[in-house]
Amino acid sequence: MSRAAAGSRDAATGATPVDQDHDDRVTVEVRLRASAWAGHLAEQTATGLRDRPPWTPPVWFYDQVGSELFDRITRLEEYYPTRAERSILAERAGTIAALSGAETLAELGSGTSDKTVLLLDALERRGTLRRVVPFDVSEEVLRDAAATIARRHDGVAVHAVVGDFHEHLGALPTDGPCLLAFLGSTIGNLDAAERRRFLSSVRSTLDGDDRFLLGTDLVKDRTRLVSAYDDAQGVTARFNLNALAVMNRELGGDFELAAWRHRAVFDEEFQRIEMHVVAQEDQAVRLEALDLDLEVAAAGWIRTEISTKFTADQVERELTGAGLEPVDSWTDERGDFLLTLARPS
Ligand code: AVJ
Repeated sequence: MSRAAAGSRDAATGATPVDQDHDDRVTVEVRLRASAWAGHLAEQTATGLRDRPPWTPPVWFYDQVGSELFDRITRLEEYYPTRAERSILAERAGTIAALSGAETLAELGSGTSDKTVLLLDALERRGTLRRVVPFDVSEEVLRDAAATIARRHDGVAVHAVVGDFHEHLGALPTDGPCLLAFLGSTIGNLDAAERRRFLSSVRSTLDGDDRFLLGTDLVKDRTRLVSAYDDAQGVTARFNLNALAVMNRELGGDFELAAWRHRAVFDEEFQRIEMHVVAQEDQAVRLEALDLDLEVAAAGWIRTEISTKFTADQVERELTGAGLEPVDSWTDERGDFLLTLARPS
């Protein structure tokens, strides 16, 4: 934890004047309490595991171990999306900053990635940026991120919002032109109905002078898609199976980790990668906190993630359908990834 974050939690720990200075520019608005979020996830997981085929929400990937594994994934040879999106931003951040004229940069996600920094720097260079609004479900992650942003960017205020982007987008402060970014193709984790609901809630958050920046992974050669989610080093396999360890810990589960295997498949009907954990033998799992017993026969599986792949036309249709009109869009050199800037129509 940075000293600035520690100082913001406890004034009595004697933060240095410099840290105090950062704290002056940081506010954290909590819309979602940890206990409410935990209850919501438990409910969603119970619903998913009672479904056939059973599924679990992707949130279980991202404990400390899983977040570190994800970080390694983004640097894998096979996993192109992060590099592709970064290269688009490296080339286009100035254009995006100019087109948006934003005074506020809001990001769904904690807002300290090197990709966000490209946007932040571009807006700062234009001299319009006043405020950064990171939005995340984890208060702890946000407090550290907010302090980091304040430390690196002298002239901006940080207004962090703890919330769930399915529910609390209304908490985003959007006075003055705002650029709302949703990067990394995280939208691909949602199914079509969830995307519709999410995009229309984005639409209702935005005023006429606000802009929405969306990162989406594109449909491509199946072999490349599958190997991006099933790398040779087995990092993605560890990332996937770690979700079972997290559920054991957080939900009083007894998944036997050695009995499950990672699998990534491309579903042609829904144009999406699905990650599964496949039972090697008959499994009986109990999740005490959910009061739930699950039986999975040998070769049966649980879907742990969907990662939808888009065409440029489909992104445009989905945005337009939600009342968001594309202003411009850009791909990387190989055409692997798409960034779209949209405005309320
Ligand atoms: C962070 C959800 C965009 O779907 O590509 C990476 C997560 N899963 N490898 C993705 C992920 C397996 C990633 N997102």
